[in-house]
Amino acid sequence: MIDGSPAGLFIVFEGPEGSGKTTQAQLLGDALRQQGLDVDLTREPGGTLLGERLRRVLLQEQDMQAVDPRVQALLMSAARSQHVTERIRPHLERDGVVICDRFAASTRAYQGGGFRLRRRDLEHLTSFAIQGVTPDVTVLLDVEVEAGLKRSLSHRNTDWEKAGGINWHGLPFHRRVRSSYLDQAADDPDRWLVVDGLQSPQDIAAEILGRVQPEADVRELRQVTAPVQRLLPLSIA
Ligand code: TMP
Repeated sequence: MIDGSPAGLFIVFEGPEGSGKTTQAQLLGDALRQQGLDVDLTREPGGTLLGERLRRVLLQEQDMQAVDPRVQALLMSAARSQHVTERIRPHLERDGVVICDRFAASTRAYQGGGFRLRRRDLEHLTSFAIQGVTPDVTVLLDVEVEAGLKRSLSHRNTDWEKAGGINWHGLPFHRRVRSSYLDQAADDPDRWLVVDGLQSPQDIAAEILGRVQPEADVRELRQVTAPVQRLLPLSIA
């Protein structure tokens, strides 16, 4: 959504490390592409040359605790602003679908909830960065903190994890992140979908598509290819 008017379709995935949001973002992207829609799958921090550079700066920092949370918020917002200008807004204006792995809710959850920066300061920063572009649906893959961290440790493959990111703050930090996410979802239930991240990936994907499909159907989204014939589900003997 741009300045309150529907243009394109903007879906954001949020959740802690190990919540499976990246997989689900990809599955939703595949499902919408099969319908012939013009889907741009992207992530934050990142999504542009500058954003990916800032991601590397933040994620390769050896001693993350040395990065002041305000600086984290500023750099995340700087990356976001470039992302909105260069990639998200233009794609929405072309009636495309943008699926973004994290957006402004991450700054509220991590720098606000986790690091306890003032909400009001973050709102100023965020509104400056996002320039009126807000998600139509934010999907929160909610997992209980210990379960998410355990799952994340079992496939330690992201650059953030290699930098020790998940370990620096301890459980109370991650509990505050989770409760900030749940509060944000409760404040705006029409635009948030909270999904139990411990269900099977197929069940989660179906629940998300069930929420997103009506949003896609009411918009005149750009078709770039013919829709792929929907296959009948295979019956399991
Ligand atoms: P991920 O994209 O691999 O999940 O990890 C990115 C990390 O960056 C994750 O720990 C959350 C953190 N982050 C913030 O702290 N603030 C933000 O605004 C964003 C977008 C991410």
